[in-house]
Amino acid sequence: MLIRNRRLRTTQAIRNLVQETHLTPNDFLVPLFVMEGKGVKDEIPSMPNYYRLSLDTLEKEVKELWKMGLQAVLLFVKVHDNLKDNEGKEALNPNGLMQRAIKTVKNAVPEMLVMTDVALDPYSVYGHDGIVENGKILNDKTNQFLANMSLSHVQAGADFVAPSDMMDGRILKIRTVLEDNGFVNTGIMSYSAKYASAFYGPFRDALDSAPVDLSDIPKDKKTYQMNPANRLEAVKETLLDIKEGADIVMVKPGLSYLDIVREVKNAVQVPVAVYQVSGEYAMLKAAAQKGWLDHDAVMIEQLISIKRAGASLIASYFAKEAVQLL
Ligand code: PBG
Repeated sequence: MLIRNRRLRTTQAIRNLVQETHLTPNDFLVPLFVMEGKGVKDEIPSMPNYYRLSLDTLEKEVKELWKMGLQAVLLFVKVHDNLKDNEGKEALNPNGLMQRAIKTVKNAVPEMLVMTDVALDPYSVYGHDGIVENGKILNDKTNQFLANMSLSHVQAGADFVAPSDMMDGRILKIRTVLEDNGFVNTGIMSYSAKYASAFYGPFRDALDSAPVDLSDIPKDKKTYQMNPANRLEAVKETLLDIKEGADIVMVKPGLSYLDIVREVKNAVQVPVAVYQVSGEYAMLKAAAQKGWLDHDAVMIEQLISIKRAGASLIASYFAKEAVQLL
């Protein structure tokens, strides 16, 4: 034999030297769930060891993340039922929970990169990412709302907005409104290839944002999120978002879509984010609790796989645990 591949696997030292992919704290975006209250650290039942935080505990958490080397957070809010409507009025409240959360993070750690979720669903009585009329999720009217919501987040201090809704043309609308208002340095991370996935279940528990069960409106998001069976469409969606002004694009969910990650990575010249979603987190936590999987080893293997597939950054509920291990 002239070639023995196992030579490069003989010892830990040689394996380290030839390792192609490495995880570092720079790889991660930390999703954070925020709610009203004081001293709240409310564990999400379907997401063991993950919490909804009130503004004061958020402040503590963000300082801790920064000390660990984590430099970017992605904010989500849980909105009171009595503030929900069809048009997302509360989302534009300059003193709303998201706007206060942005200021809380920026006051606690000014250098922390703050990204915000831009979508209607946590504010919607219907749990949809768009305004609902006659059983349809409206596209263009929703876009105007998303642009206003983005502007409100940026005025509160957000560095990046992250539209997660999958309406057509929303990136252009958001970019235009930001430019027109002088926010020329604000980034847009577009959820560009976001699939209509059943892996979002625990997230919808966390924010109480699942589509409601009413006979005259869709119970799922399949008229705007993508069909999991489609690959080429992901490239089409992503290239369009880049043309419309997205700085970072995203594939979501992660593990079941790594072929899409590589496909998109090969097709674009911008950073590709991957969202390892709540259901992926829940699966590993559940299997580990039963003693069926080695939690830490599987966690690192999954994150490395996402990066190897082509992720420039990873939004993951494991961010903190992974960085503690690294
Ligand atoms: C809402 C949104 C969702 C997620 C991020 N933003 C849920 C959905 O589209 O229904 C899912 C994240 C996760 O499951 O971790 N626009």
